[in-house]
Amino acid sequence: MPNTRPTLTVIVGSTRPGRVGLPVARWVVDRARAHGAFDVELADLAEHALPLLDEPHHPRLQRYQHEHTKRWSAVVAASDAFVFVTPEYNHGIAAPLKNALDYLAVEWARKPAGIVSYGGVSAGLRAVGQLKQVLAALQVVPVGGGVPIPMIRERIEDGAVVGNEPMTKAVDAMLDELRTWHGALAPLRGAA
Ligand SMILES: Cc1cc2nc3c(=O)[nH]c(=O)nc-3n(C[C@H](O)[C@H](O)[C@H](O)COP(=O)(O)O)c2cc1C
Repeated sequence: MPNTRPTLTVIVGSTRPGRVGLPVARWVVDRARAHGAFDVELADLAEHALPLLDEPHHPRLQRYQHEHTKRWSAVVAASDAFVFVTPEYNHGIAAPLKNALDYLAVEWARKPAGIVSYGGVSAGLRAVGQLKQVLAALQVVPVGGGVPIPMIRERIEDGAVVGNEPMTKAVDAMLDELRTWHGALAPLRGAA
């Protein structure tokens, strides 16, 4: 029997060596696989290594000149939903995430997204506000309350995130919302 589960891509929004974003994303991937509604992929912007936007044409035209853009386009086009795992850098999102968003247009549109943020006491929430503004321009629909994780360093043991009860409840609720919104949005893309 063919696998009909939609694809959820968890995007790691930071790229620096030693980043916390990768263990946070791995924790989200594990929760999403246990949830069971999606086939779950991890997209690591450090591995994609996109240069600062170097395409000559507007992404709406999809006249991509570079292999790195074509690879990134294929990942996002194959996704039915996203989770953005974002740090907060100077009250905003990290530059590699904004760059990765700007590279594409139609591949993002009419798809739902959950946001997992982390930081100090503010849990990355100022970055979430900024990210939502950008997602609106790309016609990505942010779902639910998200998962803001304060004092992230206290949640890491042996390089892995250990989720507490509020975190796991929040991520599971976000995954439920992603499933619901996927059902609503897929027909709008002719993908149902
Ligand atoms: C350039 C830079 C700017 C930062 N700005 C903020 C900030 O505005 N608010 C905040 O809560 N933490 C800030 N931090 C601390 C980050 O929350 C913390 O370093 C976190 O681990 C960053 O995510 P990453 O490890 O995935 O890169 C900043 C860190 C860096 C490197």
